Amino acid sequence: MYQHFSYEAVLSASQRATWQIADVIGPDATLDFSRPFMPQALARTAGMEGLSDDEKRILNQIRGHEYLSIFGLVEEFILPFVLDHARPHLSGDDWRVRALLQFAGEEAKHIQLFKRFHEAFVAGFTTECAVIGPAEAVAAEVLRHDPLAVALVILQIEWMTQSHYVDSVRDDDALDPLFKSLLKHHWMEEAQHARLDTLMVEALAEGRDARGIDYAIDEYLEIGAWLDAGLRTQTEFNLAAFERACGRTLGTSEREAFLGHQHQAARWTYLGSGMAHPKFRATLKTLSREACARIEAVAPAFA
Ligand SMILES: [Fe+2]
Ligand SMILES: [Fe+2]
Repeated sequence: MYQHFSYEAVLSASQRATWQIADVIGPDATLDFSRPFMPQALARTAGMEGLSDDEKRILNQIRGHEYLSIFGLVEEFILPFVLDHARPHLSGDDWRVRALLQFAGEEAKHIQLFKRFHEAFVAGFTTECAVIGPAEAVAAEVLRHDPLAVALVILQIEWMTQSHYVDSVRDDDALDPLFKSLLKHHWMEEAQHARLDTLMVEALAEGRDARGIDYAIDEYLEIGAWLDAGLRTQTEFNLAAFERACGRTLGTSEREAFLGHQHQAARWTYLGSGMAHPKFRATLKTLSREACARIEAVAPAFA
């Protein structure tokens, strides 16, 4: 295999990196709404014509709300998937069992952390922001697919959080420090999840012939298309929240431009930045050259 991770090493690294929710956000902590929450590479508000600086900041914060909400949704299908993957082998490799249970425990903590940040957002933002879901429906739809396809989607999400923090959050001093701290702490634990998910993909791919791999890629693309449609709906919700928060209604052409630009920004944030990650591509190549080529062919649509 191209990448060599062991359950024992991942568990040990994970135990060294672990943190508590109170280390990230205290009971009285507040978000600073005079600052942006999301880095420009993900929010992509700078290039939006016809928006004042204040409106760009408000839109950036709505994208921050979206980030909290979308991660809340994806963590809710990652958690049962990891538990289902661990359960059939509870009496096998002890390191494997412990590493997977640590992974699941951390994702349950992340769900709680994102909820806590969502409360802080609602406490400080002027209007309500809608979100796609509910989480149970998203989980049911994603988890009905081939487990190898689901594991690939999760692997992509884990590597994506790595590139979000390292490439665009870590060196951005304009961001609200509390929101930045959320992204940092999430990055710290997701680094080990990415390695564990690489091992899950390898286990699920074992013994599959070319047709079996090809089928998993079909299913992966189907999940991606479904999530992409959800991002389009989320962008429409964001537009409505933006108009309410700014107290003005955009004209027809402004609305179209807003939706096109921001949907593409969401595609890059939640799909493209993971598809493009070199470690994700490396795992795809271990499945087959064709699997990697198929995903490379669609990736530009999410850039
Ligand atoms: Fe997470
Ligand atoms: Fe994770």
